Amino acid sequence: MQLVAQRAHLSALADAGRLRTLAPRRGVDLSSNDYLALSTTPRLVAAAQAALAQGVALGSGGSRLLRGNDAEHEALEAEAAAFFGAEAALSFGSGYAANTALLSSVPQPGDLIVYDALVHASMHDGMRLGRATCVAAAHGDAQAANDAIAAWRKAGGTGTPWIAVESLYSMDGDLTDVAAYLAVADRHDAMLVVDEAHATGVWGGGGRGVAEAWHGRENLVTLNTFGKALGCEGAVLCGPAIIRDFLVARARPFIFSTAPSPLSAAVARESLRVVADEPNRRAKLHALIDAARRYLAPLGARVESQIVPLVIGDDREAMRVATAVQAAGFDVRGIRPPTVPAGTARLRIALTLHVTETEIAALANVLKEVLP
Ligand SMILES: Cc1ncc(COP(=O)(O)O)c(C=O)c1O
Repeated sequence: MQLVAQRAHLSALADAGRLRTLAPRRGVDLSSNDYLALSTTPRLVAAAQAALAQGVALGSGGSRLLRGNDAEHEALEAEAAAFFGAEAALSFGSGYAANTALLSSVPQPGDLIVYDALVHASMHDGMRLGRATCVAAAHGDAQAANDAIAAWRKAGGTGTPWIAVESLYSMDGDLTDVAAYLAVADRHDAMLVVDEAHATGVWGGGGRGVAEAWHGRENLVTLNTFGKALGCEGAVLCGPAIIRDFLVARARPFIFSTAPSPLSAAVARESLRVVADEPNRRAKLHALIDAARRYLAPLGARVESQIVPLVIGDDREAMRVATAVQAAGFDVRGIRPPTVPAGTARLRIALTLHVTETEIAALANVLKEVLP
């Protein structure tokens, strides 16, 4: 029999209640990241149709460094840099590709990356591919990042320190004090990388992200994605022009990959305009967050943003509750280790404009019945 180790691995995961499998969409959407419900909005559909009518290509045909550098990519980057107030932007097919590109290539051997203990897998994978020294700091603790850099310097570290955080944590829903991390970065002449995947379009002035007030600073790089609140796909890294130039010259995920679809770039550009023109969507989402505070916080959920975790603890118990909630018509997913730390399996309730306050209240009623 072939693939014995893989079969054994899958059964061990199943035995531990940790086997990931695909499931169809079913029920009220409480699990997508389509926070502003832009994925089906007529403006983006019309933008796609107009772009196609004007001859924008579906495929780029090659790496950006070869024939793949379509005018749509450059237009998106110019517009994104202006929107996010950065000197330059570079686009990628996904936030995953952008994070791995950045952290695998820009920090150099002899540099230090201090990363928040809860940063996304894409940051971990970038760090794994890169050659900087990496150390975790306690979650949300800028002082811990400060101490890690100070200890490294004291031990003779001479390169550039980097700090990597998310502005809105994807599984915990808590917001980051970006000012505190920037103060640490300034103190140590460090670079700060802020992953705004879940904050883009929703938080910060004009939906420009939690780090919005500091865009344009020479020690700040942000990741802004188009696949979540902006309703399409792809991402931009925004920051100093030298970072963009370096990525173009050295980042393997950028160089050795077919450039994203020009059509996607055209739609992403329109999504930035929708965010700018339709602040009402953000206001509605914030009203749903208030509703979640009323209905779900009393059941033990943490409600700080549109990502509402309800920690259950045990893996199987979390999946049992998720299954019961799904059977009642709500698409809420259970999240288990290793995506979240052991002992913190949870329901991740994501609020989007696809749900109503009444549905949140109904979900709370179901939870009251099925929670342990
Ligand atoms: C915090 C964070 N960063 C990056 C990514 C990757 O972005 P994308 O989905 O565009 O690949 C995700 C996606 O889940 C995320 O949650």
